[in-house]
Amino acid sequence: GRVVLLKGGVSSEREVSLMSGAGVEAALRGAGVDVTVFDPQTDPLSKLVEGKFDRAFISLHGKQGEDGVIQGLLNYLGIPYTGPGVTASAVAMNKELTKALWRDAGIPVPEGRRLAGNVTDAELEQLIRDFGADGLVVKPAKDGSSIGVTKLQKDDVTLAALRAAVDAAGGEDVLVEAYVHGREFTVAVVAGEALPVIEIIAPEGDYDFQNKYYTDDVRYECPAAIADDRSAELRALCEKAFAVLGCRGWSRIDVLEKPDGGFVLLEINTSPGMTPHSLVPMAARAVGLDYAALCLKVLGLAAT
Ligand code: DAL
Ligand code: MG
Repeated sequence: GRVVLLKGGVSSEREVSLMSGAGVEAALRGAGVDVTVFDPQTDPLSKLVEGKFDRAFISLHGKQGEDGVIQGLLNYLGIPYTGPGVTASAVAMNKELTKALWRDAGIPVPEGRRLAGNVTDAELEQLIRDFGADGLVVKPAKDGSSIGVTKLQKDDVTLAALRAAVDAAGGEDVLVEAYVHGREFTVAVVAGEALPVIEIIAPEGDYDFQNKYYTDDVRYECPAAIADDRSAELRALCEKAFAVLGCRGWSRIDVLEKPDGGFVLLEINTSPGMTPHSLVPMAARAVGLDYAALCLKVLGLAAT
């Protein structure tokens, strides 16, 4: 059948999406799939509406691509698509809602608070007292790829620095969280099952936008060098986290290990990156699925 590959889009992660989409497009074409590309930023909607597509592969990230908006349109058009549906996508794009549902389900998440716009100095000072003992992480509640994220080490936590970080995160809908110092992992979940755990070993622990996509300074271990029972525990936790949000298809969950050994789940990405630096392909390879086979598997799970 005819497949429409959605890439590009209007979010801050457009350039990442173009890289993900280029990889997926080449892989699907190489496998003989009839692919048409649709870029919501540059193509007219009529191309999608009138295209008589049998399936959609979503390589969009972020706003209007990963947050339920395009998923709702595809539902309306009756085109099955990759990844979670409208509600799960919308919740997952919002880190505060995600944390609330996970917390309710007994899944550990970082301590912190969401700020609305116009936060006062007194409120910021209270946040420093409540969560700043080991440093703070400030992030937009609804963005991806570490865009707008500031990590403040504990000696750098001042009112002025926190104010600047909140502004850098966009000023409203910002999360301020306790800085968790520990090993960093990511876990892909495909068809409800966790793939092998990946450990991310970034220079100075800073797995930021540049390190995610443009440097080769980060080391990855897959499967992660952790005990089998710890790995099993983490995979089960991530499968539960995926199910609790009502996800389907695939996603990738980012995790930290606290100094006391407990895991905390940071967030879930319902349209995970497929760039040359991205990690779901690495986890899939560890179970014998190459990049193209992964794309075909994810496409095969498409639903409305
Ligand atoms: N938001 C990026 C694309 C990811 O998590 O892979
Ligand atoms: Mg993300």
